Amino acid sequence: MTETSPGAPILMFDSGIGGPTVLREARVLMPDRRFVYVADDAGFPYGAWEEPALRGRIIELFGELLQRFRPAISVIACNTASTLAIEALRQAYPGHPFVGTVPAIKPAAERTRSGLVSVLATPGTVKRQYTRDLIRQWASKCHVRLVGSDRLASLAERYMRDGFVDEEAVRAEIAPCFVEQDGRRTDIVVLACTHYPFLVNRMRKTAPWPVDWLDPAEAIARRALSLIGEARGGEPALDSAPDLAVFTSGAPDYATRRLIHGFGLAAE
Ligand code: DGL
Repeated sequence: MTETSPGAPILMFDSGIGGPTVLREARVLMPDRRFVYVADDAGFPYGAWEEPALRGRIIELFGELLQRFRPAISVIACNTASTLAIEALRQAYPGHPFVGTVPAIKPAAERTRSGLVSVLATPGTVKRQYTRDLIRQWASKCHVRLVGSDRLASLAERYMRDGFVDEEAVRAEIAPCFVEQDGRRTDIVVLACTHYPFLVNRMRKTAPWPVDWLDPAEAIARRALSLIGEARGGEPALDSAPDLAVFTSGAPDYATRRLIHGFGLAAE
C-alpha cells in the first residue's frame, strides 16, 4: 500500500478515451479534486483480449500507477476492465479504494416496464462471468439480451477524434438490442461501455424505436464521492495544477491531444 498525501488526486482509468464520460460527471460532483486520467491506449481495444493476459496487464499497470501518482482513490472507468479485474485489483492492492464500473443491470431491471432489457457492451464484458452473475442476481425476472459489439468503441473514438461517424455501422451494431416478444418491446438499453455515451445521439437516431439508454456515469461518480470522503489523502486539492492525462503508448496523436485538452486535461 502506497502512502497518499493531502489533496492526492483521483485516478481515472480506461482503455482509451471513453472514461471522460465518467470524468465529466465526477468533476460536477467533485469540482475541487484533482484528477489523473490514464488511458491504456497501447492496449486498446480491451474488448477482444484473452482474460488472463488482460487481467495481468491491468494489475501490473496499477503497480506503477499507484506508485507514481499515489492517488486517494482509483476509478476504473471501463466495464471491460472492471468486470475482469476489479476483485483482483482489490486483492493485489489492499487498502487502496477502487471504484468499479459494471453494467447497470440492477437499475435497468428496476426500471423496465416491458421486462425486455438489452445490455450493449464489448465482447469481453458480454462473456464475463461477472456480467452473468449480475443478471442472475438482479434481473432474473427480466429477459436480458447481451449484445457484444466489436466496433462501437472504435467508432466512438473515431467520432471523438475526427467528428466522423458511420451511421449505418452504428445502426447495424445496435440492431440486435431491439427485441419484440409477445407484443412487448425492449424499453431499456444499458450502455455498458464508457465509450458509448459519446455516440448516444447517433444511437437514438438509428434506433428502430425509442428506448431509455442507461448511462451509469453519474452513479459511478456518486460512489467515488462517497469513498473519497473516507479515503486517506481525500481532502480537496491544495494547488491548481492542471489535471493530467497519461497515455500508455506515450504518443497520443495530435487529434487526441486536442480532444483531451477539451476535457481540461493536459497530456504529459
Ligand atoms: N471503455 C471500455 C468499457 O467501458 C471498453 C472499450 C474497449 O477497450 O474496447 O468497456
